[in-house]
Amino acid sequence: MDTPANALPSTMRSWIVGKNGPPADALQLVPDVPVPTPQGANALIKVAYVSLNPADLQFMKKIPTLLPFRRRPVPGLDFCGEIVALGPSATATAATHKFEVGSVVCGAIPAGSVAVGVGTLAEYITVPVEILSLKPDDLSDAASSGLGIAGQTAALVMSEANVQPGQRVLINGASGGVGTFLCQIVTARGGVVTAVCSGSNAGLVRKLGAVEQVVDYILNSPVYYHLETEYSDNPFDVIIDCVGNQFLYDMCEPYLKPTGIFLNIVGGATEGVVPWVKGTLWPKFLGGTPRRYKILALMPSGNLQREVVQWVNDGLVQDVPIDSQFAMEDAIKAYEKLETKRAKGKIIVKVAS
Ligand SMILES: NC(=O)c1ccc[n+]([C@@H]2O[C@H](COP(=O)([O-])OP(=O)(O)OC[C@H]3O[C@@H](n4cnc5c(N)ncnc54)[C@H](OP(=O)(O)O)[C@@H]3O)[C@@H](O)[C@H]2O)c1
Repeated sequence: MDTPANALPSTMRSWIVGKNGPPADALQLVPDVPVPTPQGANALIKVAYVSLNPADLQFMKKIPTLLPFRRRPVPGLDFCGEIVALGPSATATAATHKFEVGSVVCGAIPAGSVAVGVGTLAEYITVPVEILSLKPDDLSDAASSGLGIAGQTAALVMSEANVQPGQRVLINGASGGVGTFLCQIVTARGGVVTAVCSGSNAGLVRKLGAVEQVVDYILNSPVYYHLETEYSDNPFDVIIDCVGNQFLYDMCEPYLKPTGIFLNIVGGATEGVVPWVKGTLWPKFLGGTPRRYKILALMPSGNLQREVVQWVNDGLVQDVPIDSQFAMEDAIKAYEKLETKRAKGKIIVKVAS
């Protein structure tokens, strides 16, 4: 049964992007935004936690706030919270996925919501029921909020990488939100991981599964030179770049098998066209790298979210490392931490008081 309308507040706290810029200039906490009503096949969620993603910062800085369909955009993509009401045509889809009013769910908003600025950093949000998953049984609500963009990106990468048991996989940026998922799921699928991170994060990534070797990119700079020296006798089957190091691809011929693939998750529209042109169009006879290359762009979906939750329920992913947790009113500090690019796993904002 739906929560009685009179049990819900009429207004809520929500962060908005007042103008484009870095977090301290862009973000405002508004105390009296009307609580939305779920229409159609949407659910109203009382948000417990939001995890932050680098894309939030890109949208905050780059998508104009003056667009008529994007007034007072709300930042944030991921969430975990409780369904408090269902729209008039949401019940059947909710039942299909075994959730109802009172279920604790997690997800990441679809691209359409990003476009119109309907983000998650608010006390209540409405989202299509289809994008939701029940949160994993044995994961905290805070950690479950971290399964969205980072987890779904790992699922997208895995579908492209098609890692076979015994294959050797290099993960660059292994200690970040996406990298920490990849370390676990690649090893769970039988892959042998070499993780690239700074020395201070070696312990973290080693705990995330059967990571065979850790390369400290600070100690071994430039890292492509180190990889050529150490791995040309035993090159990788798959390289996954979660940092966007163009040289890592340009120089990979010695350390990526001729049959291997280089997957880059940094270098889409937000990074300009150079990596894409160099990786996919630059002919080999003009010095292009003779290795397969793909830039991946996530379109968040319920199917990917439920796949990631299943990984957790099946024990393939056992940990969602939390770098730090901030109170709702400290979201600017949380985004400033994210901006340092030093997060060890996920940065979380606790929304519900
Ligand atoms: N294509 C898509 O659809 C998609 C989806 C999700 C994310 N992304 C992008 O993928 C990237 C990673 O996302 P994320 O959520 O994992 O970011 P994140 O959590 O902010 O990544 C932070 C991590 O990156 C590591 N790092 C920073 N510079 C490094 C370097 N030069 N070499 C190795 N590691 C380095 C840091 O480790 P140290 O402190 O040890 O340096 C830190 O642990 C971002 O650029 C994001 O925008 C793209």
